[in-house]
Amino acid sequence: MPATVVVGTQWGDEGKGKLTDLLAGEMDMVVRYQGGHNAGHRIVVEGEAFALQLVPSGVLYPHIRAVIGNGVVVDPAVLLKELDTLSAKGIDVSRVVVSGNAHLIMPYHQELDRVTERYLGKNALGTTKRGIGPAYADKASRIGLRVQDLLDPKIFREKLDLVLMEKNPLLTRVYNRLPINADELADHYLNDLAPRIIPMVADTVTLVHDALARGERILLEGAQATFLDLDHGTYPYVTSSNPVASGACTGSGLGPRDLDRIVGIAKAYITRVGAGPFPTELDGELGELLVDRGHEYGTNTGRRRRVGWFDAVMARQARRLNSLSEIALTKLDVLDTLETIKVCVAYEANGERYEYPPYHQSVLHDVVPVYEELPGWCEDITHCTSYDQLPKAARDYVAYLSEVTGVPISVVGVGPGREQFVRPS
Ligand code: GDP
Ligand code: IMO
Ligand code: MG
Repeated sequence: MPATVVVGTQWGDEGKGKLTDLLAGEMDMVVRYQGGHNAGHRIVVEGEAFALQLVPSGVLYPHIRAVIGNGVVVDPAVLLKELDTLSAKGIDVSRVVVSGNAHLIMPYHQELDRVTERYLGKNALGTTKRGIGPAYADKASRIGLRVQDLLDPKIFREKLDLVLMEKNPLLTRVYNRLPINADELADHYLNDLAPRIIPMVADTVTLVHDALARGERILLEGAQATFLDLDHGTYPYVTSSNPVASGACTGSGLGPRDLDRIVGIAKAYITRVGAGPFPTELDGELGELLVDRGHEYGTNTGRRRRVGWFDAVMARQARRLNSLSEIALTKLDVLDTLETIKVCVAYEANGERYEYPPYHQSVLHDVVPVYEELPGWCEDITHCTSYDQLPKAARDYVAYLSEVTGVPISVVGVGPGREQFVRPS
């Protein structure tokens, strides 16, 4: 049976965790395919909240095998802490496995992430400071350490010594930081962390292909989102991996023909954390209202998210980049109190109209959104359990978004709870 991908279509935090959890009920395996603990995926089950960073969101179901794919960058200490937190909440984490090819986040990656952001000053990207960019950079430079290196202390130490020949002068001479002590680092990774990580290491490529061959259903869970993609996002204000649906193949070992359903997640408005262009951004009272009603603060970093109106130009681009088969629209309830709601249907710049983002980013920085204004519904929809129970204006809004993006909307979120969604017929 072919696999399904869950992909963010905006700048992250669309509700991928909630949707993965929702779809996982009908899956056998959930695979995280990129990113690291820069992600924060929040799921609320019977009033209890879970904030996942590295562990795939399907883990809350006892029947799901949860796979951390080769495309993920893993901080082993964070992974173990997350597993302990889940265990303490009664979740069986014995079904979590991690690819031996996944790269390790090392303490120097986090230090370099912090210090380069500081040196960038007003040009800082606003990263999560988790070491994500430096870890992927080492992967591309072929000097990264992988999870499988934990299985072989001699190799681990050789690679570490080699990489520190570059990192220590960089830290001390360029950034005026203390050097990394190779003995202490190796001791911590090999003696404190490896004994608990090693039993989880698996050949995840074989695992996913065997599962498909048995007719099992696989869900591929993306982190971050289309416009944070290293190739297709608003570079350099992006993350260092490929969240787009095609990244699900490289990050898991499945082939393109193994995928058949691509579910794009979009908020009924839009948010962004960190720096970078944001054509429909809202300031002032309206912005505050959406931040407040949507609890728009980072799931793990606690940072306030920037907010704006739904942007159909970006959504159309996300449709093309991901071959979206459907959109799951989340947080419609956050708009409950608005009398009118705007949707950006195109951009204008230099006398030209854009239905898709201009390729030249200097133009994107200057575009003026063209808005359509729709009536709000001014009614609480959080208790709706079927699509017909939504007020007509809410259904019209959903239908309009489907029309301007050209993608059917299959699920609409009306609250954070696992059961708080309705399905348009
Ligand atoms: P992710 O990173 O894409 O998994 O999204 P986050 O978990 O970081 O942020 C989404 C937030 O919205 C979380 O706090 C969810 O609990 C919440 N959420 C998800 N869907 C809905 C919804 O339909 N309505 C409301 N009010 N909250 C939602
Ligand atoms: P989820 O999976 C929202 C943003 C950071 C920053 C940029 C680069 O929860 O949607 P990084 O630490 O990755 O080098 O930061 O990307 N960012 C996210 N924004 N949701 C996320 O994950 C994000 N992960 C990274 O704020 O702008
Ligand atoms: Mg998040």
